[in-house]
Amino acid sequence: MVQPIRVLVAKPGLDGHDRGALVIAQGLRDQGMEVIYSGLRQTPEQIVQTAIEEDVACIGLSSLSGAHMEWFPEVARLLRERGADDVLLIGGGVIPPDDAERLKQLGIAEVFGPGTSIQQVADFIRQHVRAAGPACQLAPVATASVRVSGVDHVAVAVRDIAAAIEQYGRVLGARCLGVEEVPDQGVRVAFLSLGGTVVELVEPTAPDSPVARFLDRRGPGLHHIAYAVDDVDQALAVARAAGARVIDERPRPGARGKRIAFLHPGGLGGVLTELCQRSAGEGAGES
Ligand code: CO
Repeated sequence: MVQPIRVLVAKPGLDGHDRGALVIAQGLRDQGMEVIYSGLRQTPEQIVQTAIEEDVACIGLSSLSGAHMEWFPEVARLLRERGADDVLLIGGGVIPPDDAERLKQLGIAEVFGPGTSIQQVADFIRQHVRAAGPACQLAPVATASVRVSGVDHVAVAVRDIAAAIEQYGRVLGARCLGVEEVPDQGVRVAFLSLGGTVVELVEPTAPDSPVARFLDRRGPGLHHIAYAVDDVDQALAVARAAGARVIDERPRPGARGKRIAFLHPGGLGGVLTELCQRSAGEGAGES
């Protein structure tokens, strides 16, 4: 099955007109692409974060405010900083030719002026997005790698957590260790104990949460693997230096009082990967 190209159409900055961006978004959908629209007044940080979470192949920036020289290069810079500069970055709007040239030097692959057809934009994207196959860049030389002390848990995305707890109990004899809401992720999670292994069931509680989008796109199934590390701050820095694309810039609180950080599935066999620092006093195995 050929995956559609995923595009984020984004409006950085303060201008409040998004008719043009919406027309582009719809036009690219008509061309068979999967388009996410950022909404108005996004910061470059928000745009890059959404692009990484949504694993898009292209970002299309739109600006009518005249602030493109400020905002577009900042998005390009943040993509590089996050190791995501394989995302094709294009721009459009009312942009003078001199500015367009300068933007191209600053990492914007192409700048489309008024009067460009959707077809031209779509053709450009198809020709320039990263190939779906293995990247042919040289891998950065890693000076160190993350020290993993074991699998902390394996997570499964489900639509109905109560039904899943019942199934895992009935079929595999799993014991539920507790159910917890993680509001900042828009999820409810249950931790199940099976032998020495912990399985985390994840159910979305908000329709726009990353897990809800995962379920819409892929259906229920394996969601992520969490590896135990002693020091998640250090592990995240090491992973980044080793060329991993990080989803979390810095560790954040996870369920069960742990500190966690996610690494992007790209570059890790397509598996969303969590680094998980066990809480103080907790031994290996069941928690
Ligand atoms: Co997890």
